Amino acid sequence: AIDPEFEDNREVVEQHDGHDVWGPVEEPETLGIHGTHVAVDFDICIADGACLEDCPVDVFEWVDTPDHPESEIKADPAHEDQCIDCMLCVDVCPVDAIDVDPG
Ligand code: SF4
Ligand code: F3S
Ligand code: ZN
Repeated sequence: AIDPEFEDNREVVEQHDGHDVWGPVEEPETLGIHGTHVAVDFDICIADGACLEDCPVDVFEWVDTPDHPESEIKADPAHEDQCIDCMLCVDVCPVDAIDVDPG
């Protein structure tokens, strides 16, 4: 599961599409965590898609991650600023790849 303390345990190493990427990142096998308010651990995501289907405000978009061992697409929190903290994505992800921090 995603580390809920990732902000203490990781560093921001790059930006992607307007959000933070928390390292380490070593493409293509290690992709880190995308987003902060809505955080998706790309190294855990298996492209189940429930988060994209269920998010009421369409926070997520698919991005291509060729040659990643878990899946070749990931749910990117492209619109994390629109999140209304319903926590549905956290509940439906089968591998607990998502952390939403309503702070
Ligand atoms: Fe979407 Fe709700 Fe998840 Fe926020 S908590 S990203 S609104 S499903
Ligand atoms: Fe990935 Fe979980 Fe969404 S596996 S696609 S973050 S439901
Ligand atoms: Zn991203």
